[in-house]
Amino acid sequence: MDRMPGRVLVIVPTYNERENLPLIVKRLRTALPDVDVLVADDNSPDGTGQVADELAADDAQVHVLHRPGKQGLGTAYIAGFQWGLGEGYDVLVEMDADGSHQPEELAKLLDAVAGGADLAIGSRWVPGGKVVNWPSSREFLSRGANIYTRIMLGLPVRDATAGFRAYRATTLRKIGVEGVQSQGYCFQVDLTLRTVRNGLRVTEVPITFVDRTIGASKMSGRVATEALWRISLWGITGLPARLRRKR
Ligand code: GDD
Ligand code: MN
Repeated sequence: MDRMPGRVLVIVPTYNERENLPLIVKRLRTALPDVDVLVADDNSPDGTGQVADELAADDAQVHVLHRPGKQGLGTAYIAGFQWGLGEGYDVLVEMDADGSHQPEELAKLLDAVAGGADLAIGSRWVPGGKVVNWPSSREFLSRGANIYTRIMLGLPVRDATAGFRAYRATTLRKIGVEGVQSQGYCFQVDLTLRTVRNGLRVTEVPITFVDRTIGASKMSGRVATEALWRISLWGITGLPARLRRKR
């Protein structure tokens, strides 16, 4: 990495990731010893919250946010962002606990932020981006979601649903995370849209997304349904402005 773009907090949302969490925290702390970690756990039945507390007890750069129950990926990140903004971090990173987002690639995202990006997205669907071990059904879902998002929202982004990201604190303050209603994975599209609509600079960095080998995905019909209706609604309500711009 060329230079650190200020104080960096990596937020890791967890739901039943007790085996994955120690592995990912260790990799991250090794790859980038200066960055801090916040685990946002939704009272995982498998005891991930206790595992997180043990990690925090051994390492002053690891913090834990305990939430009372499973409230969705989006709301976990909002709570994490609010904590991090309150603590004065300059850059807030989103990273999954299951190893799909490789900590060794985070430096590329931070470089993009240091180079002027208001939001850096680790992208699977730009040249150089890759997906390893994903079932074809899941690749189809992700590609389909991105094509639908492009058509409905006209975003100049290849991977709007990606979950490996680095936001400048100024970006989150400007887009106003407290007003975000997305609960599940459509949160990613929601914040991309807000960032673009605020005229801020988004940079996509190619990454290799490695599907998890331990535990199960929390993607569900409910998560997909929320994404479908919210993206459709944003597309329809944003249409007049898009048509005006084209003329
Ligand atoms: N606290 C909390 N609450 N964490 C959650 C919740 C929740 O309700 N749901 C999921 N997580 C955590 C998981 O424990 C994991 O660390 C991370 O969020 C991602 O969840 P996965 O279930 O592994 O997601 P995925 O691999 O199916 O989806 C990935 O790709 C999507 C795009 O295709 C993620 O990166 C998504 O963010 C991304 O939108
Ligand atoms: Mn995953």
